[in-house]
Amino acid sequence: MPVSPPDGVSQDKPLLAVLRGERRDPTPLWLMRQAGRYLPEYRQLREEKGSFLELVYDSDAAAEVTLQPLERFDFDAAILFSDILIVPFSIGQNLTFVTGEGPRLTPVLGSADLDSLTAFPARLDPIYETVRKVKARLSPATTLIGFAGAPWTVATYMVAGEGSRDQAETRRLAYGDPKKLDSIISRIEKVTVDYLSGQIEAGAEVVQLFDSWSGSLSPKQFERFVIAPTARIVTKLKKKHPQVPVIGFPRGAGGKIRAYTEETGVNAVGLDETADPVWANRELPAGLPVQGNLDPLALLAGGLEMKSSVRRIIDAFAGRPHVFNLGHGILQDTPVSHVEQLVGLVKGRR
Ligand code: CP3
Repeated sequence: MPVSPPDGVSQDKPLLAVLRGERRDPTPLWLMRQAGRYLPEYRQLREEKGSFLELVYDSDAAAEVTLQPLERFDFDAAILFSDILIVPFSIGQNLTFVTGEGPRLTPVLGSADLDSLTAFPARLDPIYETVRKVKARLSPATTLIGFAGAPWTVATYMVAGEGSRDQAETRRLAYGDPKKLDSIISRIEKVTVDYLSGQIEAGAEVVQLFDSWSGSLSPKQFERFVIAPTARIVTKLKKKHPQVPVIGFPRGAGGKIRAYTEETGVNAVGLDETADPVWANRELPAGLPVQGNLDPLALLAGGLEMKSSVRRIIDAFAGRPHVFNLGHGILQDTPVSHVEQLVGLVKGRR
């Protein structure tokens, strides 16, 4: 659903123009997790700060990390450096990142009750400070993307207390006590609307909802726990900020992708690498902006394989607004030179 530009802004920012329904050649480009451990300058700052959360909560350092990839590469967007688990942290769970193992949230909502948590809304404030600092330093052609996790994905961490391969515990809750899951989702939803509005008010020009685990739900549950909460968030955000495009990224949605785009009202949809671009282009409504979907492993491999995958994606989406991206976050072992090669390919220099 294209959004009309409020002023001449889309002339200057290719990513915003595409998200508002225009085609741009070359295709604008940014990468999920573009700030992170594949960059030596990130690893250095991360080491100095000691932990990931300290980095996120030091808004000067977080702004610096957000801008690091733009100093190296000709990307069209900066994505706020933060994490989707800041929302459970503000709802009142304790959050730690165990090196090599990933995030831990306590108490787990598989057993504890939502009402036993004490909310700390001020835990969101330093993130807005990061947004303001990035915005002040951003070049005029670059778009600032804010983000949050979509409720289902965030709920999977809140219920299990950690990441899991198949989200079994939260899926069991979806069958065993759907009312409890509804109440968790509804709390996340409310905080997410405030959180994204706060990011927009601080300067974010686009927001993306990461639904990294939407692929694990059955079709009926996908409707209830992915589509419905996303649609409510989009409606509420549109009321407050009608000009700001929302990108939905329902990773693993497969054949449910068309229903997702039609029923949620997102302005653009992110595709993961398992979606065949030729199929997706046929399946999705004409004119809907699409983002994606190079396999992060193709970027890691580089060379001719990457080159042909990039061509196939760009050709498949030649007839609609397209934002080039990966199908999921960049992998930490990815050589920086491969990212340079990718940017050259998309921007038509090689
Ligand atoms: O894209 C960006 O560059 C912006 C920053 C960003 C991070 N996490 C930084 C981060 C974004 C958009 C996220 C989203 C996120 N976080 C998701 C959704 C997208 C996805 O990847 O599926 C999820 C599921 C999380 C939760 C999370 N955060 C996990 C599972 C982990 C640990 C795994 C890992 O990669 O270490 C994190 C930590 C995290 N978030 C790191 C970064 C750069 C690594 C922290 C470190 O430096 O050690």
